[in-house]
Order: sequence, then structure tokens, then C-alpha cells
Amino acid sequence: MKLPIYLYGHPVLRAVSTDITPDYEGLGQLLADMYETMYESDGVGLAAPQIGRNDRIVVIDASPLADSMPELDGVKLTLINPRLEVLEDGPSETRGEGCLSLPGISENVTRTEKIRLQWLDEKFEPHDEVFDGFLSRIIQHEYDHLEGRVYIDHISPIRKQLIRRKLSNIVEGRVRCDYPVRYAPRRK
Ligand code: NI
Repeated sequence: MKLPIYLYGHPVLRAVSTDITPDYEGLGQLLADMYETMYESDGVGLAAPQIGRNDRIVVIDASPLADSMPELDGVKLTLINPRLEVLEDGPSETRGEGCLSLPGISENVTRTEKIRLQWLDEKFEPHDEVFDGFLSRIIQHEYDHLEGRVYIDHISPIRKQLIRRKLSNIVEGRVRCDYPVRYAPRRK
């Protein structure tokens, strides 16, 4: 089942998410729904806060980017309770990012693209790997969602000022999307 995407301005995107346990109700169905929602919205990653749950769950499928980045072909990751450490000896890169919760916006973000990630897969088996390049960037972007951050938190105040109108349009529900969304609750 395709789920609505919660948009920028909704408080669920600003809360820190909590770990889940193996008895999490309906995890298999939720993961299937998250993948379906991501594919139908043409995203390459989706974090649970974006579908309104403050749980530490992320799905990634970077395959659509394989035309320009062949190393991403077939890269599919389900991350449960991930722990991320940015390895500061890695190179810092600036590249464009977008987010299903911020429709119509794309901004350059500078990140150190070498990380160590520890996580559980959908069977709660532990993994521990080092990632770099664009996949690391996708993981960091999704991990930010679990920490109550969005990628535009990383851009300069000047850039943020330049997209101020676009941001307020999203917050106030004046944006059209070709996927189902949930807008921020109206401010009184
Ligand atoms: Ni995002």
C-alpha cells in the first residue's frame, strides 16, 4: 500500500526517532509499503518519519541512479536502528540533493563522504560496514531524518533565504505533488 509522504513543516520530521524491537507490529508489511511508496514517488531512499512514524527504519534502493553511477546498480538496503559515524579522514564533496518531503527543491550539500554504519537488516541480523561516494550521501541524508534533521539544515543561511518562499509554500500547503502527501498541521 502506498503511504502519504509527510512534508516539511510537519513536526514528525523534527522529532528524534527511537529504536524498534523484533516484536514491532507489522514490520514486514510496513517495509513493503515503504519500498512501494519510495518506488512510486521516484525516490531512492525513504525514512520512517517521512511516512509519519518516529521509528528508526530506512529503506534505500539506489538502482535508478545507476545510469550515471554504475556502482549503485542493485544497491538495496533496509536499515533498522542504524548508528552512523562520519569518518573525518574522508574527502568532503558538494553535490545536489533533493527530498520527497521538500518537493520542488534541490540544493547543493557539502558532506564528508566516508562513514561507518552499523545496522540491523529486516531479520535483525547485525551489519557493520564503511561506505563512501554517493551511497554514503544517501545514507547520511536518510539518517538525518531519524535525527529530526532535513538536508536543507546543512545549507548556508544565504541559500536558505533564497528558497524561503518555496519553503513557506510547502509549510503552508501551497505545493502540488504527483504523490500523496500530508501537510503540516495549520498554525493557529
Ligand atoms: Ni529526505
